[in-house]
Amino acid sequence: MSTLIKVQEVTKWFGKTEVLAGICFEVKERETLCILGGSGGGKSTLLKVMIGVLRPTSGTVIIDGEDTSKLTDSQWDRVRRKLGVMFQSGALLNSMTVAENVALPLEHHTKLDQETIATVVKIKLHQVDLLHAADLRPNEISGGMQKRAAVARALAMDPKILCYDEPSAGLDPIATTRIDQLITQLKTTMGMTNVVVTHVMESVQRIADHVVMLDKGKVILDGDLDDLKASDDPRVRQFRTGELEGPAIGTTAPQDYLKDLLM
Ligand SMILES: Nc1ncnc2c1ncn2[C@@H]1O[C@H](COP(=O)(O)OP(=O)(O)O)[C@@H](O)[C@H]1O
Ligand SMILES: [Mg+2]
Repeated sequence: MSTLIKVQEVTKWFGKTEVLAGICFEVKERETLCILGGSGGGKSTLLKVMIGVLRPTSGTVIIDGEDTSKLTDSQWDRVRRKLGVMFQSGALLNSMTVAENVALPLEHHTKLDQETIATVVKIKLHQVDLLHAADLRPNEISGGMQKRAAVARALAMDPKILCYDEPSAGLDPIATTRIDQLITQLKTTMGMTNVVVTHVMESVQRIADHVVMLDKGKVILDGDLDDLKASDDPRVRQFRTGELEGPAIGTTAPQDYLKDLLM
């Protein structure tokens, strides 16, 4: 499979803090990459750099052959069309129905007529098995359904790559399994490339073709599930077994910068 994203020597500083310290890895077409690591390890920051919400301090991200460090903001907007992003449930607007939420990107970015938009929305809702909830508001459906609605919205513009930040945050195990199945199904049925930030080990085992683990802004593992299992790096082992005591992945308190993700 060809390479779709190349992250090259990416650093990101916030003031005097280096959050990403020279990150390199590649994402292949039609794979599910899981980005793992403890809270505050820089996962969301990395995802935001990959989708162009944040510019790296140095280094670059190549998307589908385009060096994004050389792009103006409006050129970045064009490249960003290749990327869908799944926000947490809060990003759905409760003042609108599920269908209207999914229609938003189409209304914003295209000149399609209402009938075409309604048809596309139906297809996307059907893909995530939510057609029956089209006319409900996000606060009238379960957390798992909200996540699936967010996936439908991320699919609206037919991206090549779908990025998810903690897709199973706040979900029970059954709803988590369902989201995992959807992520894998999008890959196998549509050839979607998935980039999933998560710290749920069971999900990683279900969905990952490729695993990149971060600790203190550095890549400490880049491989597949067998490499994850075989690693005797104590930091990787700690994550794998979910031990709370150990060499400690991440150093800072968890923070939610989801607002920055709202483009
Ligand atoms: N916009 C920002 N301004 C300042 N510090 C930030 C910002 N975003 C993230 N950070 C800091 O960067 C570190 C990594 O955060 P984050 O990428 O959210 O980690 P993770 O998603 O792995 O939990 C944390 O110490 C966090 O406080
Ligand atoms: Mg995060």
